Amino acid sequence: MNKTVMHELLEINRIESTFPLCSSENLADDHEQSVKVVGILGCGAIANIITNFAAEGKLGVDVNFFYDKDIERAENLASQVDGTVLLSIEDMLDKVDLVIEAASPQAVREVVPTIIGAGVDMIVMSVGALLDNELRERLDKLAKENNAKIYAPSGAIVGIDGIKAASIGKIQSASLVTRKPPRSLGISTDEEKILYEGKAGDAVLKFPMNINVAATLSLACGMEVDVKIIADPAVDRNMHEVHVIGEFGEFKTITENMPCATNPKTSTLAAYAAIRLLKSLNENLKIGT
Ligand SMILES: NC(=O)c1ccc[n+]([C@@H]2O[C@H](COP(=O)([O-])OP(=O)(O)OC[C@H]3O[C@@H](n4cnc5c(N)ncnc54)[C@H](O)[C@@H]3O)[C@@H](O)[C@H]2O)c1
Repeated sequence: MNKTVMHELLEINRIESTFPLCSSENLADDHEQSVKVVGILGCGAIANIITNFAAEGKLGVDVNFFYDKDIERAENLASQVDGTVLLSIEDMLDKVDLVIEAASPQAVREVVPTIIGAGVDMIVMSVGALLDNELRERLDKLAKENNAKIYAPSGAIVGIDGIKAASIGKIQSASLVTRKPPRSLGISTDEEKILYEGKAGDAVLKFPMNINVAATLSLACGMEVDVKIIADPAVDRNMHEVHVIGEFGEFKTITENMPCATNPKTSTLAAYAAIRLLKSLNENLKIGT
């Protein structure tokens, strides 16, 4: 099915969810394009876990194309799945259904517009970059014009499904306390140290590689969450406490994440979230908001 037809079906589906009696169930059933071939932008810790799953045949899609500004990293991952290393992201665009960005906020600014502009879907891991309103609106516009999708997985945090549902009503407050071993925050200290207290937008500017969860929460609920970042030598996991109060009631979540072996700043759950999202793109029964 071509993308224009799919876009029209999506529109029909959207309109009919407002007027549910006139159902286009059969048409809407296959409105989502299946994802078969995936490329990777950024071949570090997250990409490594995703590629391992692919190598074991557990991903359900082929991860065949790899790009990293450090070519050795791309070669290393490509060798695990007999994949191909590309020297530029442009070379990937006519070969893949979707690109997973697992690189950096800078890559989201510099490279993602090219990918979306070519009508290729994306999973973006460096979600912090999307708190930049100008960039997010530009990417959203490009995605609409080129019928591409941008997916931001729940990543290293739990509660994104709940906060999305909660945001249908009024949210009074949403806060995040992130507690990490000092080495995960790139510092050394023998005692607990509050490194940041304030709104998510500023936290993302000060800790761009560490605070994607604050960005994901903020984007999910449509308001900047209150963030506290603590370096704590007493913990050996990356911990996130979320507290949301709204019209729906109240919820609290605690996530204790195992750091990735190859990058302690990154949590294994973040890679698992991308893998799960990838799988869900080809599923007919989707669970969760
Ligand atoms: N959404 C979440 O919850 C979540 C959780 C953890 C990490 N992240 C983010 O995901 C991204 C990847 O994390 P990681 O732990 O795999 O990082 P990593 O440092 O282990 O690997 C990143 C790789 O990307 C490459 N790279 C960086 N910028 C590039 C560019 N402009 N072009 C090409 N290659 C580039 C690097 O050379 C490196 O190989 C980071 O931005 C990180 O902050 C998000």
